[in-house]
Amino acid sequence: MSINLAILVSGRGSNMEAILRSIRDGTIKGVVPKVVISNRPNVRALDVARHYNVDTQVIDDNGKKGADWEYDKRIVKCLQERDVRPDNGLVCLAGFMRIMSKEFVQLYRWRVMNIHPSLLPAFPGLNAQRQALEYGVKITGCTVHFIDEGVDTGPIILQEAVEVRDDDDVESLASRILEKEHEIYPRAVRLFAEGRLRIEGRRVRIILN
Ligand code: GAR
Repeated sequence: MSINLAILVSGRGSNMEAILRSIRDGTIKGVVPKVVISNRPNVRALDVARHYNVDTQVIDDNGKKGADWEYDKRIVKCLQERDVRPDNGLVCLAGFMRIMSKEFVQLYRWRVMNIHPSLLPAFPGLNAQRQALEYGVKITGCTVHFIDEGVDTGPIILQEAVEVRDDDDVESLASRILEKEHEIYPRAVRLFAEGRLRIEGRRVRIILN
């Protein structure tokens, strides 16, 4: 049975594009992109999704960002209309700058992934790359994790490290992290599609094939 995929975005959509490209070139098999949902109108990600012939939907939150089940119900309705269900679906948050309500997390338990630009649990929340620079860490990176009821706290699927250079600013660091994001997010989706992720408490075990 194939997995029906929804990708939730807020802006540029480069992680979304990395996933869609891997599906199109056959690196990820058995995943059907059903819809790209944005909480903001007129963002680049929507144009890119159309370029990949994926349906798009704007569910405008008018800048209100707190966890809100009333808003998330509109997402659930859209997911269900596209047959992205808790038993056959995968929802990828890809630069989606909202916190999901606990009701949504429970409904789609272990079916929602997120990418975050730090080595969690370091530097959760906004501006992770700036937080890393200001703290002075020598190594940071990126994390793909399942979401749970907390902010950036769910079981970790994959991480990749990135060295912080003395001459880095936020932009240069973010762009090197982004290159690694584009590698690990499609890899995580592929592992999910291959049924190779086992969640054991906080740990996600990757089954060898
Ligand atoms: C990415 O760096 C992603 O890790 C980050 O936003 C960027 C979105 O870029 N997400 C977060 O900070 C979530 N807290 P993209 O739209 O080009 O994928």
